[in-house]
Amino acid sequence: MALIGPSLMCADMANLQDSVLRLDQAGVDFFHIDVMDGKFVPNFTLGPDLIKRIREFTNKPFDVHLMVEKPEDYLNLFIESGADMISVHAEATYHLQRTLQTIKDQGLKAGVAINPATPIHDIEYVLDVVNYITVMTVNPGFAGQKFVPLMNGKLRDLTSLINECGYKIDIQVDGNIGYETIPNVLKNGANMLVCGTSSLFKQDLSLEGAVAKLKGFIQ
Ligand code: DX5
Ligand code: ZN
Repeated sequence: MALIGPSLMCADMANLQDSVLRLDQAGVDFFHIDVMDGKFVPNFTLGPDLIKRIREFTNKPFDVHLMVEKPEDYLNLFIESGADMISVHAEATYHLQRTLQTIKDQGLKAGVAINPATPIHDIEYVLDVVNYITVMTVNPGFAGQKFVPLMNGKLRDLTSLINECGYKIDIQVDGNIGYETIPNVLKNGANMLVCGTSSLFKQDLSLEGAVAKLKGFIQ
């Protein structure tokens, strides 16, 4: 079954400890933590001190999504804050292969994220070093945006590429992942769902109810 990862930038910031504890208890698989620098994307969200603080409330993997320029300059900051997995944007560094290898060498899972317009062939030569690929299904920077239509075709092509090469790589989708979009992304090969305002938060359900409904839907 696909893995469910709440996107914590969509959670109630005034009650983050409570939300993390409840989501952990409700059985989510990982926590997706968006980091933004106001340059790679026109927004700011969560940072290393907050990650360090919420690290005390759960043992579930922290998947840190670095939407920052030159992510290689900040890896230690997020490794020390408690990240278990770090994804960096292919568009945000001159040295993608070395940056991913550094994440791996530090004992974390390495992910590469690609914006909607970025072709999958831009990451063909790092498939041997990544553990997961984050296909941005919205333009990064904000929650509550609309799914970019051609991303299902991109997922299909990526799944074929990975299968052809014979690698074991998880495919994560991030952005507007909800009840309208989940069936197709699963069909096209995604197995890690980043869930924000379209499926977990700002629903007319408790966090526990939203997780249970989502689990039932993706069975
Ligand atoms: C956007 C972030 C996503 C976002 C998802 O740049 O990477 O994780 O928070 O939120 P929704 O599900 O509302 O698109
Ligand atoms: Zn994200």
